[in-house]
Amino acid sequence: MDIEDMLSFAKRKGFFWQSADIYGGASGLYDYGHLGALLKRRFEDLWLSYFVNSNEDYHLIEGSDILPEKPLVASGHAERFNDILVGCSKCGSFFRADVLLSHYKIAIDEGKSPEEIDDIIRESNSVCLHCKGRLMPSKPFNLMLSVALGPENKDKGYLRPETAQSVYLNFAQEFNVLRNRLPMGLAIIGKAYRNEISPRQGLYRLRELTQAELQIFFDPQEWNVDLKGIEDRKVNVMFAKAKEVESVSARELAGRYGLPGFYISKMVAIKEFYTDVLKIPEARFRFLEKDETERAFYNKLHMDIEVDVESWGGFREVGGLHYRGDYDLTSHSNGSGHDLSVNVNGKRVMPNVLELSFGVDRNVWAIIDIFYRKDGERSVLQVPPYLAPYNAAVFPLQKDERIDEEADRIFNALRKRMLVVTDRSGSIGRRYARMDEIGTPYCITVDYDTVDERSEKHGTVTVRDRDSKAQERVKADEIEEFLSKRLR
Ligand code: GLY
Repeated sequence: MDIEDMLSFAKRKGFFWQSADIYGGASGLYDYGHLGALLKRRFEDLWLSYFVNSNEDYHLIEGSDILPEKPLVASGHAERFNDILVGCSKCGSFFRADVLLSHYKIAIDEGKSPEEIDDIIRESNSVCLHCKGRLMPSKPFNLMLSVALGPENKDKGYLRPETAQSVYLNFAQEFNVLRNRLPMGLAIIGKAYRNEISPRQGLYRLRELTQAELQIFFDPQEWNVDLKGIEDRKVNVMFAKAKEVESVSARELAGRYGLPGFYISKMVAIKEFYTDVLKIPEARFRFLEKDETERAFYNKLHMDIEVDVESWGGFREVGGLHYRGDYDLTSHSNGSGHDLSVNVNGKRVMPNVLELSFGVDRNVWAIIDIFYRKDGERSVLQVPPYLAPYNAAVFPLQKDERIDEEADRIFNALRKRMLVVTDRSGSIGRRYARMDEIGTPYCITVDYDTVDERSEKHGTVTVRDRDSKAQERVKADEIEEFLSKRLR
């Protein structure tokens, strides 16, 4: 599907749409409807249990979305968290320099200065994309959204540009409470804010986004951990300046490419989250290495996590694995005057940070794009059953009081344990079709046989599988166990 198909599907079925829709929508701001909110929560829960709850040294915290000015000056964001903006002298439109130049088939890396960009604009004779007017000199544009706090709005603050900053500000507190041990991981699933220049492409570039980020603090001397048991696991990587994706084993990443063991172990874990948990086909997942001219100012090693998304026209970033060194804790030590170095194994170290960063909204979009299939007249959101917004649907097949009562009884029992929905309108074929389209993996139908004591099928219901369309009779009293096994 293309972007328009996706936006129309998402709105029609109840996944997501632009905020303030009844006022014509707000650029870069999206609301989730009843199905989108469930799908997003499923992704977040899987992420949390896979990356955080499975490790006794990793923990979930929360931090406020609004931060005072000082930490974001210390972190470098106030000065350097910029895009390059190009304005038209005639119609007043503004463009991100890379977006403008991409219309002229010119790719620029993120590290280009405004002067270098002006040279490229001049040499390529680029003009305004809207009115062909002359472009003004480009300039850096800070992406943070500022807020004014307190009486007369005198105190300046910012909406945090990444959840990571809330973690760094809580490092010392948590390190003490958690008994002074490294490595220590702190995660946040929460909002971040960026004043993107003309955001488009649905959930790809948002002004308010949800991030799921895990910051792992470690002693840099423990960086080269053994690859125990994962040496032969392979990941797809597009190295910086390479022309093709390579499938590389963990052993080769260490030997041939000199990557540290700790970094490699997280590459493997991330890849397996996508292929084994989210069930994204291996060929549609890859890492994209960013070199020093392309990576964010705080990173020493940077791989984007990319998924091949048809509606975005190919591989696009859905997250990143970033080695940030001691940049963050040193910056906040200097900015706050609070020394964030710690004593471990009898020595003083400034912990280094390995960051696993995921854009939740982008992942939700990618999941729908990848699993939405058209099969003739039939449309199916073929997500893994445990990722589907609803676990099951319960239908009374015919209009009959006893059938209705039994369907209600099953529905009420199941909804104490899982997310179920009922649908009583239209033919059974229409009801299956509606459930297929929103990904409901199992449909339970109550019919005359279920309630007729003379029938040999008395006390059983039909369970229809979304993917195989096969139906089987299951004892009504065992339906919860039947579903739980399959949803695990
Ligand atoms: N924390 C990394 C990012 O926001 O991209």
